Amino acid sequence: MTKYYSKKIMEHFMNPKNLGKLNNADGIGTTENLRCGDAMKIYIKVEKGKIKGIKFETLGCGHAIAISDMICELAKGKKIDEAKQIKFETVVKEAGEVPKPKLHCVSLAEVALQSAIKDYEEKRKS
Ligand code: FES
Repeated sequence: MTKYYSKKIMEHFMNPKNLGKLNNADGIGTTENLRCGDAMKIYIKVEKGKIKGIKFETLGCGHAIAISDMICELAKGKKIDEAKQIKFETVVKEAGEVPKPKLHCVSLAEVALQSAIKDYEEKRKS
């Protein structure tokens, strides 16, 4: 493969562990980029304050799919407060290298995860 895709990105793209829908999710985060048209959805299941289940559905480029899976792996098993710290920089570091034109794919995943957490917290309040 080209240098455009880091080893880590290729691993997650070729073998995503968290692809699919999570039934009875406690929080759902949806986001899309209007320029490229890519869209992401992240589902979380929370038990005792920890993310016990997480899945994604992404309609998008290879980086978007790989990074969706990567951010799910990063968040899995984390306490909600810890998962809130998973930001753009965390994912870029984990990926090894993300080419400049693909940095917005990382932003999309960050927003999807943080929106899912926000959705969970809002549902808990009501
Ligand atoms: Fe837009 Fe990857 S090209 S999310």
